[in-house]
Amino acid sequence: MKRPRNRSYVLTMSSSTMKSLSYVSKKNSFYDRMDVREQFSKTIPQIAKDHFCLGLNPAKSCLAVGPGDGLFEIEFFKHIMPDLKSLTAVEPCPQSAAELRHNLQRHMSNVDSVVHEKTIQEFMRESRHGGQSYDAILIFHVFYYINGEDRAIMCRSLFGDLLRPGGTLVVQHACKRSSDNLTLCDLLNPSHGIPSYEDMKAEALKVGFEFDVEFEFPVALDCRDPDDLLLAFFSYLVRKEITMDKFKTAVSSLSPDWQLRNSYMIGMFRTSGVEHACK
Ligand SMILES: C[S@@+](CC[C@H](N)C(=O)[O-])C[C@H]1O[C@@H](n2cnc3c(N)ncnc32)[C@H](O)[C@@H]1O
Repeated sequence: MKRPRNRSYVLTMSSSTMKSLSYVSKKNSFYDRMDVREQFSKTIPQIAKDHFCLGLNPAKSCLAVGPGDGLFEIEFFKHIMPDLKSLTAVEPCPQSAAELRHNLQRHMSNVDSVVHEKTIQEFMRESRHGGQSYDAILIFHVFYYINGEDRAIMCRSLFGDLLRPGGTLVVQHACKRSSDNLTLCDLLNPSHGIPSYEDMKAEALKVGFEFDVEFEFPVALDCRDPDDLLLAFFSYLVRKEITMDKFKTAVSSLSPDWQLRNSYMIGMFRTSGVEHACK
């Protein structure tokens, strides 16, 4: 597993500097400590090989919510949605949106893409009347940051407005059943309100989605020598300022080797009524 970058720099930062760290630097520090890119790159081609008739194969249009720099979503498109013609991305972080535009140009120049630099809540408000609908919607690791009320509104809008009949919602999210990260969040702030994959699945079924298929893959987070960036990431996630002592105590109570083991799920849900094109 890769070691975190800029360690010596971040260790010298004061807590007031921590607050001003950009979301991207916190998120990158988190991803740098994980084997998620390797595991994802192993899992996606395997899914494409084993499930060549997924409802997503013929998808031509897609909405990606919070794709960040887009590298995971781009890999997913290449293997699972090879006929994609148009992509609408909604990414509120300006630095991520700039990286996303660059990566789309570099890796998917044959797809018409537009990046809206706004939150999904803003996008939904603007597209409520007469907006476009999509064959597929991808939401990879975004629901953690959206409050419960907005999540419910979002699921209803995904089902009723944004997905065409027979379209597919793809959610990638940490699974509570085997996620040390979510247990760590419980220890850091018991009232954090962060949903698990199981919560999002229940929410999707509640608004009328039909469950299609799901895949699980393991990832591990290396928490040895935690630095200010990792602390800032978890403080942001659990919506509470966490001290380094509290963080270390919580991690060591979960894992003597400081490796937090997690399962990520990729779940697919369909709007009802229309069969897969390839069935
Ligand atoms: C953990 S990152 C995931 C990035 C990418 N999807 C991936 O799997 O690597 C969460 C992303 O959600 C975006 N985000 C946070 N709140 C959002 C909102 N309300 N609407 C849309 N995107 C949001 C962040 O800017 C960030 O890019």
